[in-house]
Amino acid sequence: MGKIIIFLGPPGAGKGTQSERLIKEYGFVQLSTGDILREAVRNGTELGKKAKQYMDAGQLVPDEIIIGIIKEKLNELKDKNVIFDGFPRTIPQAEALDEMLSQEGKEVDVVILFDVDDEEVIKRLSGRRIDPNTGKTYHIIYNPPPEGIEVIQRDDDKEEVIRKRLEVYHSQTEPLADYYKKKGKLVVVNANNPPDDVYNQIKEVL
Ligand code: AP5
Repeated sequence: MGKIIIFLGPPGAGKGTQSERLIKEYGFVQLSTGDILREAVRNGTELGKKAKQYMDAGQLVPDEIIIGIIKEKLNELKDKNVIFDGFPRTIPQAEALDEMLSQEGKEVDVVILFDVDDEEVIKRLSGRRIDPNTGKTYHIIYNPPPEGIEVIQRDDDKEEVIRKRLEVYHSQTEPLADYYKKKGKLVVVNANNPPDDVYNQIKEVL
């Protein structure tokens, strides 16, 4: 693997939006556990069937399932620069990643924490829409889809599920900020700002 970057932050912080830009401009590869799980749900695989109940409830999918997915994917990454988007999300996941990377003599290069207020997250996620054909993300107010494009809403973007996802983020994922800070890997960006500004902050880090 080349550079290894982690995007850490609450749901709706803009991790997927910024990954799209880095992929386009710099050829990064994105590994999003959320995307992998949603694809499994769409295809009705065993993994999808197991994951769906957790995702619809705004809960995390169990660590052993997620770590298994990452183990499989790491082999495909070769020398590419990778963005981990939505992984790791718990301390055991972070420890497992460190262990997997160290076996290859690698380590995480930088962890970018997307700092954004809960109320902003709720505005963003309740307005988020997806083009099911391309996977491209829009927002009904901030970034409306072009005319003629049919968009859909994610099942977990209902307000009560968004609130649950935020609660889970604060209790289970936020402690990772400290974990990576202690290792000297953490950089914080202000993700309350518009997408162009967030992108510039990220480019400065990289
Ligand atoms: P996942 O798919 O990872 O969802 P998430 O982390 O909750 O993140 P989102 O995709 O909701 O948000 P984002 O930060 O990418 O925001 P986006 O760019 O789309 O996970 C889903 C579920 O899968 C989890 O709940 C869990 O069940 C399971 N799961 C996944 N990984 C797991 C793991 N490792 N362990 C256990 N379980 C796991 O932007 C949001 C909206 O805002 C868009 O409409 C966008 O257009 C707009 N927007 C973006 N940036 C800005 C900006 N700067 N200003 C204004 N609007 C903006």
